[in-house]
Amino acid sequence: MSVVADIKRVTVPEIRAHKNAKPIVCLTCYHAHTARLLDNHVDLMLVGDSLGMVMHGMENTLGVTLDMMITHGKAVMRGSNRALVVVDMPFGSYEESPQVAFRNAHRVMAETGCTAVKMEGGARIAEQIRYLTERGIPVMGHIGLTPQKIQIFGGFKTQGRTEAEWPEIEADAQAVSESGAFSVVLEGMAEPLAAKITGQVSIPTIGIGASAECDGQILVMEDMLGLNPNPPKFVRQYANLGPDIEAAVKAYAVDVRERRFPGKENVYTMKKTG
Ligand code: KIV
Repeated sequence: MSVVADIKRVTVPEIRAHKNAKPIVCLTCYHAHTARLLDNHVDLMLVGDSLGMVMHGMENTLGVTLDMMITHGKAVMRGSNRALVVVDMPFGSYEESPQVAFRNAHRVMAETGCTAVKMEGGARIAEQIRYLTERGIPVMGHIGLTPQKIQIFGGFKTQGRTEAEWPEIEADAQAVSESGAFSVVLEGMAEPLAAKITGQVSIPTIGIGASAECDGQILVMEDMLGLNPNPPKFVRQYANLGPDIEAAVKAYAVDVRERRFPGKENVYTMKKTG
């Protein structure tokens, strides 16, 4: 019997083949149970560093560590077996040099078993993208409103609102594409600019608060499920789980306080003997 396992997950070339074709369905995912629920319905799951805010209550993503990304990456891999899983490289783990980026991305891939990593930045990290892809690590790019630069932007601010800003962002998109990334996230970007970039680059663009013209879309899962009390303005909510969870917890608390057994039946009651 061969010990070589077939690749059963969606592959990087399959994602690339979506360029100008069927839109790519992506969601963020940070834990095993939700990975199982998403697996048959999305092409790609991103273990985004937004988990710092969503899972850990941080104010922004700047304090997220490589160990946190690896812990959640492992959970998502255990919960899924079909969708392609991408793990974000956190702030400080790749900017310094291509070699540092390779060492940390290798750790992420080796320890989680994910297929690819994502890094924020355009021309500034083109060298890192080339270095990693040439050595076997697929990279997803991320340009526009890159949350790891929030202190430079002065907040979560939409990019490309004036045409004067466009050339630099377009150059970032080209740099990411030409250095070998297999796709690029366009976040928080004026709609006509995102549409223009989608027409210019040869790799699929994945929009978040960008344009319906992108080759795919991604949302933070908790935002679209109604678990975030303050979701970004552009997010469409597909469920309202926050109030559902609160109602369930309230009903449970009443049962416990009124000494009602909080299960279907007590399976551990003693059997009558004799
Ligand atoms: O960290 C994240 O969730 C992301 C998505 C918003 C694209 O980078």
